[in-house]
Amino acid sequence: MIVCVCNALNEATVRRAAQNARGKTSILKIYESLDAKPQCGKCLCHARDICNEEYTELHA
Ligand code: FES
Repeated sequence: MIVCVCNALNEATVRRAAQNARGKTSILKIYESLDAKPQCGKCLCHARDICNEEYTELHA
């Protein structure tokens, strides 16, 4: 499932980046780690939810 149309980022990619960051970063840093930059911003809530899920998973 595509999360960010502007950067062609799918959910698995964002999830993996969040796992690699171990939840200790911002969504902007997650995008940066993927050589991406928010453009329209429509994806940010969904991407943030994914990162929060991964953070919760890591700290459960
Ligand atoms: S959909 Fe992600 S910046 Fe536009």
